[in-house]
Amino acid sequence: MTTRAELHYAAASQYLPGGVCAAARANAAIGRPFYVSRGDGALLFDLDGKPYIDMCTSHGASLLGHNHPAIKAAVQSALDIGILCANETEHAARLAARLRDLVPCAEMARFAGSGTETVMHGLRLARAATGRTKFIKFEGHFHGYADALNFSVMPPLDEAGPAGAPRLYAESAGMPAGAGADLILVPFNDEAALRAAFAAHGDSVAALLMEPVNYDQGCIAPLPGFAALCRSLCDRHGALLFFDEVLTAFRMAPGGAQQHLGVTPDLCVLGKAFGAGMPISALVGRRAVMRHLRPLGRSQMSGTYLAHPTALAAALAALEIYASPGFYEQLMARSDAFCAGIERLVRASGVVMRLQHLGPRFGLYFGIDTPVTNYRQAARRDLAAELCFIRGCFARGVFFQPSAHHGFSAVHTPAQLDAVLQAVEGALQDVRAMPPAH
Ligand SMILES: Cc1ncc(COP(=O)(O)O)c(C=O)c1O
Repeated sequence: MTTRAELHYAAASQYLPGGVCAAARANAAIGRPFYVSRGDGALLFDLDGKPYIDMCTSHGASLLGHNHPAIKAAVQSALDIGILCANETEHAARLAARLRDLVPCAEMARFAGSGTETVMHGLRLARAATGRTKFIKFEGHFHGYADALNFSVMPPLDEAGPAGAPRLYAESAGMPAGAGADLILVPFNDEAALRAAFAAHGDSVAALLMEPVNYDQGCIAPLPGFAALCRSLCDRHGALLFFDEVLTAFRMAPGGAQQHLGVTPDLCVLGKAFGAGMPISALVGRRAVMRHLRPLGRSQMSGTYLAHPTALAAALAALEIYASPGFYEQLMARSDAFCAGIERLVRASGVVMRLQHLGPRFGLYFGIDTPVTNYRQAARRDLAAELCFIRGCFARGVFFQPSAHHGFSAVHTPAQLDAVLQAVEGALQDVRAMPPAH
């Protein structure tokens, strides 16, 4: 029988390229996008009303689940003041002050919408503040889709050059030929390569831009001492340390990865969980850097929708929840228990798969049983097994988006996480039953 989703896919594909509004919503595991009618808590409902436990959580944005009453009420109260737009309200400074309390580097803030636009503005600000043009980025780290940054996130291994000296790989057609001219690409967690990059280019490096935890390759934390090395090399060479915390912000601590790692950047972008599902991100940093933004300085960052009151209200409400006593203790304990449960099932199944997690977000590396510390290792995982697993979970009522990273929210209950484990157990059997030469 043709499902409503299949019919919708055919119809939507006539008007939306690929039947989707974001390329990342294509779904190779189920052969069509997962169309949803609504969400509630840990659940997403398909077009026929069938519930699925959500293990994508809006690519990490819905850390408080869907339809959270406090977020809804906050957005409603922002609507009640008149669907204001492109005006300054009191909410922005309140939110900035709250961030100052919670996030170590956040002496000042400017609010925008997507992570992509805010990282782009942050890079410009870093150049304006230092008077330099180059920047260092790690292979496999994702910083949105701006032309200058859209390189070497998931390069095919046969086009990526030597592991120790990776070659720039443009992630999209249509990027200008010179887009990567200022980018110095370094393998993550490679101390010698990072030192060499600074030794060669240090005087012209405006910023070292990095995901402090590389969730975009599953979950790859910096090796002990590596984040501190990033800090000290920036200090030695007069470059800014720029954390892209779009995915790590509020994930494992109210102060994000910088609090967790004990390393404070000069500049940082917060996103995703920051707005608990509403589109907001923040460029935050040291006052001495942030004062280069217009109208104080000459670095441009403006726009009609910047600091939209509905999104500010959602973020203010979300921060109250993140700052409430016991929030992270419970989330971390639940994450540890859930991930230990997956590992037990993997061992019992005989499937080779490594799980790495920090807080409620994790990577599943099929076919790998040693620690994954950089992109090249992550890229060797068995994608056919991964898709089979995701398909098997979907058939059992659990939604994982095909992506390197997965995760759950603070409102997923232990009973729901147990139900996910049951689906995982069945899906691992599907993987086990795959023909050996798949
Ligand atoms: C680390 C990181 N930076 C930037 C972005 C882009 O953010 P957005 O999707 O809000 O444009 C993402 C999105 O996944 C991300 O994970």
